[in-house]
Amino acid sequence: MNADSPSFEPSWLALRESADATARASELLAPLRDALAPDEPLVVWDLGCGTGSLGRWLSGRLRGPQHWILHDRDPELLDLARKNAYVTADGLPATIETRAGDLESLRASDLVGASLVTASALLDVLTAAEVEAIAAAAGCPALLTLSVVGRVRLSPPDPFDADVAAAFDAHQRRDGRLGPDAVAAATAAFGRRGASVRTRPSPWRLGPGQAALTAEWLRGWVAAAVEQRPGLGPAADGYLRRRLDECAAGGLTVEVHHVDLLALPGGSA
Ligand SMILES: C[S@@+](CC[C@H](N)C(=O)[O-])C[C@H]1O[C@@H](n2cnc3c(N)ncnc32)[C@H](O)[C@@H]1O
Repeated sequence: MNADSPSFEPSWLALRESADATARASELLAPLRDALAPDEPLVVWDLGCGTGSLGRWLSGRLRGPQHWILHDRDPELLDLARKNAYVTADGLPATIETRAGDLESLRASDLVGASLVTASALLDVLTAAEVEAIAAAAGCPALLTLSVVGRVRLSPPDPFDADVAAAFDAHQRRDGRLGPDAVAAATAAFGRRGASVRTRPSPWRLGPGQAALTAEWLRGWVAAAVEQRPGLGPAADGYLRRRLDECAAGGLTVEVHHVDLLALPGGSA
């Protein structure tokens, strides 16, 4: 990791895990299962695995022996990820290994033997070159989930919502990262290689039952917006206080829109 690489706190990844699980587009599982070779042990790569949240959800939804390769550039997250004990849909313990590395240096040879490439909450923090590298290296189905698409809706609305949202999206696109353009870029990258791609919405819908996640999301959302546009600072402080008060009082709902993408080689999606 270099100094400009954002790090992702395990506490944040834990806080979002249940909302992620609820949001995932389960309807992509049937075409995924159909595309996986029957009767062969699965080798699943989870790129940008964090602490392994996606495997905790997906391993139990796929049948048969599974070997998971949990890949991340953050060694502290990998230390947590290797403690996972995934169990398959038919009750078998999956085996796990971890690989440290930056996707910048991902090569097709790294993914030889993979049955499935997965990722969650990753594409939007990558550059176009990194997404191209994944599409070029994955000669197997790819399930790339929970990419933000630059659409959030807070209720009740506030006149300052749009300013924060625009600054946040600009922050996501900093230094060549794809941010809200990630799904379009990945769709094009896999499509150019003959894969057929389908996408489905996977929004977070956060209400009073998810107040801790909503509050933490709000803090991060506004902080990123202000980092991008420091001129928002004083107004943003007041906005954040208002929104946190509404959240604590059970009077705020937030939709954060994401998209899940399934790419199948050979046009079979
Ligand atoms: C938002 S977190 C998601 C973690 C996990 N997939 C989850 O859903 O909980 C993004 C993860 O991608 C990793 N990551 C980001 N850019 C990366 C890169 N270029 N190479 C390898 N890992 C990367 C981060 O270290 C982090 O663990």
